Amino acid sequence: SLYAVIMAGGVGSRFWPRSRRSHPKQFLDVFGPASLIQSTFARLQPLVEPERVVVVTNADYVEKTREHLPAVPEGNILGEPVARNTAPCIALAAAKLIAEDPDATMLVLPADHLIANVERFHRVLEAAVEAAHTETASGGHPLVTIGIRPTHPETGYGYIQFDADGDLDGVEDRGPADKPRAHHVLTFAEKPDVQTAERFLDAGDFLWNSGMFIWRADAILAAFERYLPKVHRLFAPLVDAFGTDTEAEAVAAAYEQSPKISIDYGIMEQANDVLVVPGSFGWSDVGDWRAVHELSEKDDAGNRAEGNVILKDTARSFARSADDRLLVLVGMEDAVVVDTGDAVLVCHREQAQKVKDIVDFLGVHG
Ligand code: GDD
Ligand code: MG
Repeated sequence: SLYAVIMAGGVGSRFWPRSRRSHPKQFLDVFGPASLIQSTFARLQPLVEPERVVVVTNADYVEKTREHLPAVPEGNILGEPVARNTAPCIALAAAKLIAEDPDATMLVLPADHLIANVERFHRVLEAAVEAAHTETASGGHPLVTIGIRPTHPETGYGYIQFDADGDLDGVEDRGPADKPRAHHVLTFAEKPDVQTAERFLDAGDFLWNSGMFIWRADAILAAFERYLPKVHRLFAPLVDAFGTDTEAEAVAAAYEQSPKISIDYGIMEQANDVLVVPGSFGWSDVGDWRAVHELSEKDDAGNRAEGNVILKDTARSFARSADDRLLVLVGMEDAVVVDTGDAVLVCHREQAQKVKDIVDFLGVHG
């Protein structure tokens, strides 16, 4: 059957001062009433039943995750004792699913992305699931990822060179009648430097990795055995521990000894049998305040004001007050001002990435 695994372990420090150690990005309601993790869950319906949704998060966030996702069975919200990046998170979820269903196929999804066209997203997922069930030359099953047409040489993403079969249109969205197709992946390069990213962009046959993956649980475990044997040795035995009274202890032991490594560096860059389904469904990973400004509805001057805000002679700015405390901007351009009552951020829109450095400097996430 089809399961979804939502990865929700990030801290999202670029959303300071709204994101805090106790309140990371996935719980923020940056786009209206629902939090990002609630939207991630909601857009899986009706493809994946709530009983088949698994969330992996830090042990500290398990309670809050349950509050945000009451429809997900409590036992499906897994707490990690320490953050070891995405590879161990995925190994844990794969072991949990195989313990329940040796035939499980998993959609692996980040908790905090924005997707505008959900209908199109579903069609891409369906094509990806179909691709994940095909057989490889060696009798196994492929690893499938979803690619996004790149617009600029972003260095925070993975890049996927795919076999276009002489038809670069495979990347384009040719409308609702078009069925998304899977392509063979030639190269997967995680977070290249800017010169390399520019070269990839010019080449034309590269996509951004969306960070959403689709594979059979046994296929990703086989990939762990081959490319990250240490992680496999620690996490594969959990298949037998899940559901027994040694579960918590076994999970803690695996995390204790696990290296810190992302699925992108650890497996996707090494693996041979990788397919990509290009998807154009209005994707954003909502990386910082600049992205929130860009994706929000704005007035004629390009401003976005939230809360008790007065703007005069101000353009292309984002301003959010702390509840009803009045926030006033006069003569500002390209500004981000976020007041949370106990902290105020004032920064240039184009430098919103650097908020992360300040949070690192503060050390305690504010
Ligand atoms: N449970 C858990 N544990 N989740 C984690 C952990 C962890 O230790 N670390 C990260 N996550 C979650 C994050 O919350 C996020 O939802 C997702 O996994 C991806 O992690 P990021 O840290 O945001 O990765 P990234 O943005 O640097 O890179 C990935 O995403 C890009 C697209 O947004 C890669 O897959 C890139 O290749 C990709 O382009
Ligand atoms: Mg990310």
